[in-house]
Amino acid sequence: MIQKVLLIGNSDGIGAAVTRALVARGDQVVGMSRSPSPLGPHGPTHIVQDISAPDYPDKLGRILVEEGPFDTCIFCAAIGSGLTLPDLSQEAHVIEVNFTAMVHTLAGLTPGWIEQGRGHFIGLSSLADDFYNTDAPSYTASKAGFSNYLIAMALKLKPKGIHITNIRFGYVDTKLPKASWKPLMMTTEKAATYVIQCLKTQPIQLSVPKLLGFVLYGVRWMQSIRVWLS
Ligand SMILES: NC(=O)c1ccc[n+]([C@@H]2O[C@H](COP(=O)([O-])OP(=O)(O)OC[C@H]3O[C@@H](n4cnc5c(N)ncnc54)[C@H](OP(=O)(O)O)[C@@H]3O)[C@@H](O)[C@H]2O)c1
Repeated sequence: MIQKVLLIGNSDGIGAAVTRALVARGDQVVGMSRSPSPLGPHGPTHIVQDISAPDYPDKLGRILVEEGPFDTCIFCAAIGSGLTLPDLSQEAHVIEVNFTAMVHTLAGLTPGWIEQGRGHFIGLSSLADDFYNTDAPSYTASKAGFSNYLIAMALKLKPKGIHITNIRFGYVDTKLPKASWKPLMMTTEKAATYVIQCLKTQPIQLSVPKLLGFVLYGVRWMQSIRVWLS
């Protein structure tokens, strides 16, 4: 069945690969990012918008009226900022883009979806959501909040016919991950196939690759012991 999809953060990386995959399937895509569409002026509808701007909730409301209703929203936008002391000036901005804008987006979509009795929100989180990262604490904290919020909302909204999927990726080959070692890194095309699969299966959570998830779980336990001993 052809879907109408609002795809936020689709000018680059995983979002651009998902855009290409959806267009190839014949789905209708409305993209959003600060840069133009990854498919150029002849590609699907694209809205240039900074989702951390104060006017974003109002603009989203107008977009939902003019371009909606949407069957699905896929939230791929994020930024990462390495922390170099003593400069903490970008920390709050990372939380605004990665977490607060996602909460605004779901808040805009939910009333219409409750009225229709259906809707699907897919959010791209990270296996790093369960990890204390001293090099990029705002990124991992934003993803911890992101995953926690989406799973709570998935349980809350399921009885209303609304599905929410939290996807936790490991390393994907985009400009975002800054680590010097990126084990089990996947291509954006492979990541897009997982996102497309979730359109059909609608799980509450998908974590891939599983092996990296287990390793990070172990690292988190060692970090917790260190915190506890301190
Ligand atoms: N790559 C990885 O290793 C990895 C691993 C785990 C999870 N993830 C998650 O997967 C998602 C996609 O990541 P990616 O690697 O594809 O990142 P990316 O290549 O850097 O793409 C990020 C997208 O977000 C958009 N964006 C950023 N700030 C924005 C803003 N203020 N307003 C509107 N759009 C904004 C960017 O477009 P503009 O710059 O044009 O605005 C771009 O299209 C993110 O949620 C990320 O946390 C990625």
